[in-house]
Amino acid sequence: MRIVSGIQPTGNLHLGNFLGAIKQWVNLQSDGECYFFLADLHAITTRSNPKELRNNCQEMAASLIACGVDHTKSVLFNQARVPYHAELSWILQCTARVGWLNRMVQFKEKGANSEGESVGLYSYPVLQAADILLYHATHVPVGDDQQQHLQLTKDIANKFNNEYGKVFTIPVPKLVDNGTRVMSLQDGTRKMSKSDENDMSRINLVDDADTITKKLKRAKSDTELLPDNLEELCARPEALNLLTIYAAITNSDMDSALTLFSGKGYGVLKPAVAEVLVETFRPIKKTFDEIKNDNQITEILQDGADRAAMVAKPTIEQVFSVIGLDR
Ligand code: AMP
Ligand code: TRP
Repeated sequence: MRIVSGIQPTGNLHLGNFLGAIKQWVNLQSDGECYFFLADLHAITTRSNPKELRNNCQEMAASLIACGVDHTKSVLFNQARVPYHAELSWILQCTARVGWLNRMVQFKEKGANSEGESVGLYSYPVLQAADILLYHATHVPVGDDQQQHLQLTKDIANKFNNEYGKVFTIPVPKLVDNGTRVMSLQDGTRKMSKSDENDMSRINLVDDADTITKKLKRAKSDTELLPDNLEELCARPEALNLLTIYAAITNSDMDSALTLFSGKGYGVLKPAVAEVLVETFRPIKKTFDEIKNDNQITEILQDGADRAAMVAKPTIEQVFSVIGLDR
């Protein structure tokens, strides 16, 4: 298995990012050869600020490493350090059809006022296809919202292969588990999100023990005891969310979490969730604080980029050659 995945370098990682994305990456490292990157070229498709972008990349790399992405096992880099991503993206823009991109739901959502958006935001999924096809990825773990981009990647690869001969490997939709969806601590029907104005709605990776405990204490709840079955639990979004978090953090399942807490109240559940979160995040935060300003991160990303480039270069050379572009 060759696994390729990217994440946009945004600041302020939270529990949702950890359980929904990063933890999956960490676990996948024992399943195959992994290429993980910061999608910094994708990050500039919407308004961006140089200082913030640098800072976000540094922090995201530090967070990934602190959470357990091991740069000696996986290839960890940022897109901008491997020029072939942007090069292949141009070529594939000449393969992708306008009609295909017009159907991309994410652009329709993000680019509500599409006339005023960057062309890059529109062609974003083509760069994503380049990211994947450069490395002959076989597996691409992504969340639900990225499935359409993955299908587009396959369409682009198939069209290119039909026109020029088999160059690209067709990636298999990810077979790994979809990750956990974490909801806001203040509203169990909304996703935990970095853009929520209320910081009490989320647990940030950098929150200290007191903050985590306080946020759990003030999390939305009710006065009823916890049920003993999934059906009743699903009708109570806040309870469901806390048990989901508990099960995911302790690497157990909902049934065991239900058995543990049924008949008990939030007075028992909340401190229990707080405790496992504090214990999980304590070493992560410690490592993050130690390395976040370290020059070593630049070295790690550059080393990753060198290793990535060795794999990507033959692909891009073959692409130029079959098209008839000499250089
Ligand atoms: P974002 O911060 O929205 O750019 O997301 C970065 C990654 O974290 C993506 O893979 C998302 O699917 C994942 N993610 C973000 N928020 C959540 C959440 N509340 N629950 C689960 N996964 C999430
Ligand atoms: N678009 C993805 C997201 O927003 C990030 C991404 C960029 C990606 N390139 C990729 C994911 C290639 C998987 C493979 O989450």
